Amino acid sequence: MDRILAPSILSADFSHLGEDIDAVVEAGAKYLHIDVMDGIYVPNISFGMPVIKSIRKRTDIVFDLHLMITKPERYIKTFKELGADIITVHVETLEHPVETLKEIRALGAKAGIALNPETPIETIFPYLGLVDLVMVMTVRPGIGGQTYIHECTNKIAAVAMELTKLQLRDKVDVEVDGGLGVDTVDEALYAGANVIVAGTNVFHGDIKANAEAIMSHF
Ligand code: DX5
Ligand code: ZN
Repeated sequence: MDRILAPSILSADFSHLGEDIDAVVEAGAKYLHIDVMDGIYVPNISFGMPVIKSIRKRTDIVFDLHLMITKPERYIKTFKELGADIITVHVETLEHPVETLKEIRALGAKAGIALNPETPIETIFPYLGLVDLVMVMTVRPGIGGQTYIHECTNKIAAVAMELTKLQLRDKVDVEVDGGLGVDTVDEALYAGANVIVAGTNVFHGDIKANAEAIMSHF
């Protein structure tokens, strides 16, 4: 699988979000990671539909939507219509995981499943045949700028192995989200990740140089 940087706009400067996005596209990022938070599933509220609609007009980069919201099935269709390419839902939020993942695909988006640091990796194993992306959270969801939880690295390895066993390794992205930068990216890649989300370590400072520095580890 290609190794891909997915800069998380949660850490961008929203007073010039368009320029910040241009910088990561120019650096060669292939996914744009978009964190939607509802203040219920996670304590923070980030941004929603109008922002996604606006930035969709600016760039063709793959929109990698990370829904940290309760009952995400309510909004899947809308997010697809607004231009989401990958829609990732948290296993902890799903009442009917099979139906929701199938619906995402039926709408024409790629389906992703995410899990929190304290959720055992086996929780998502039943759904691996229904997804295009697995997201292993390596911080508690809801806040940027936290420290990578090293205890989660074995979960990346475990899901990569399970995908290999199911002969799905070359079809499903293994994405890691939280605390990633030049100091931690190697650990995630070595464990089997191929999509690296990074917010703080991309958008704080020289954006293009930061993105290139992380991608130099790929
Ligand atoms: C956290 C979000 C992350 C966040 C990562 O809940 O899902 O995508 O933006 O931020 P950093 O890279 O700063 O840990
Ligand atoms: Zn995220």
